[in-house]
Amino acid sequence: MKYHIQTFGCQMNVYDTKSMMGLLNGAGHEYTDNLAEAEMILLNTCSIREGAEQRVRGRIGQLKRYKDKGRLRFLGVCGCMGQKEGARLTDAVPYLDLVIGPGAIGSIARLVEELERGNRPLVDITGIEDEYDQPFPAPNEAVSYPCFVSVMKGCNKKCTFCVVPSTRGPERSRDPRIILQEVETLVQKGYKEITLIGQTINSYRYDGIRFPQLLERVNQIPGLARLRFTTSYPSTSIRALFEVMASLDKVCEQLHLPVQSGSNRILKAMRRTYTREEYLNQVRYFRSLYEGRALPPAITTDIIVGFPGETEEDFQQTLDLVREVRFDAAFMFKYSPRPGTVAAAMINQVDEYTKSRRLDTLLQLQHEIAGEMNRNLTGSRVEVMIERSTPSSQGGMEYESRMRTGRIVKLSAPAGAYSPGDLVQVLLTGCTSYTLFGDPLSSGESTQGGLKIHVA
Ligand code: SAH
Ligand code: F3S
Repeated sequence: MKYHIQTFGCQMNVYDTKSMMGLLNGAGHEYTDNLAEAEMILLNTCSIREGAEQRVRGRIGQLKRYKDKGRLRFLGVCGCMGQKEGARLTDAVPYLDLVIGPGAIGSIARLVEELERGNRPLVDITGIEDEYDQPFPAPNEAVSYPCFVSVMKGCNKKCTFCVVPSTRGPERSRDPRIILQEVETLVQKGYKEITLIGQTINSYRYDGIRFPQLLERVNQIPGLARLRFTTSYPSTSIRALFEVMASLDKVCEQLHLPVQSGSNRILKAMRRTYTREEYLNQVRYFRSLYEGRALPPAITTDIIVGFPGETEEDFQQTLDLVREVRFDAAFMFKYSPRPGTVAAAMINQVDEYTKSRRLDTLLQLQHEIAGEMNRNLTGSRVEVMIERSTPSSQGGMEYESRMRTGRIVKLSAPAGAYSPGDLVQVLLTGCTSYTLFGDPLSSGESTQGGLKIHVA
């Protein structure tokens, strides 16, 4: 059967979609990008904010016409919204055939068989507490970046605003042998860069192995050029991870460390287990480990504005923290009350207008900082990895690439000059706030880390 999967939300969903593709392809089904020819469409959904759910509901409505036309036999909802809503979705939308949560992904091929036998609608929201021991076959498709490998499922933290612990269950780490095997398989397929993912990746623990040791092992895989990971939780024990990170050649100089707020009062109400001062100390220590290098490491973050009870003073503390740290990038959100969470029941909700105003102020500040950081980088020589190409208006190709710190660099070159995964030395020649432009330095060949690279 030809099927299509549309992915919403976080990296975990991107990874889960690939896992489902691997399983479905293994069962003889065939992926298509063409919705009109799909006999099954799955929406892999997100519940993190209300807006994410609204987008999915809108999409379910739009897809009804494919059902009406008759070619589309099965329409399904997977992921966090599936987990959260369960049978409420099939009750509300009669043309939905399947609703599953993240715990049922491993059963996708069997569930589709049942659908084919006429058993519908199917709802499976079990399994979010199961062990995480299943290796997933990678789907056969062209190399595309970023490429995620999950090292753990779920989350044991209790941030009062967040639905993840209830949609994805408690923390379960994956056997390092399965992780290494999955990365090795991807490297054999041609991947040069892998991003390891987990909700609080620094809590990884399997037998005696903690995340720094896992990183050391993945770092040794021949053929892999770059290694990234996300998300780190700013807990007190994170320094050991920073030290290992800074010592490993393949691990990129990029840390995603969500702060959420610059106010201790709000951090406490969020049940984040660190203070503003502890966070700032961690940032300082992390940066100190890279002193003397050509470029400073990048730090990115997540910030919520308008959490219940957030005053103008609390918000100013967030702005101050952003000015002090100077994040390379930040994902900034208006607080969205999620049913069933502690914060949604708090009585001191901030009004929508104030949330929007605070978000605008924060976005503007971060925009200025990111622009300044990019301007400071122009004139530098850096190594980038090619991720993708699109034909440019001048006839050649525009290549999109990334620095080790995660910044996007665009370069122009003739068609066929580079393929995804190529490492190229470039001179940074210009920028906007979010994109740098680079010129490849004149070609020659050199090797670095056992890999062929194009070099000045
Ligand atoms: N595991 C990550 C976060 C996962 S959710 C961590 O350790 O922080 C990704 C981001 O979404 C969070 O960092 C937070 O900034 C944001 N987010 C989560 N719940 C939210 C809510 N109810 N409203 C607004 N933003 C939220
Ligand atoms: Fe959510 Fe906090 Fe875990 S933001 S994913 S409960 S660390």
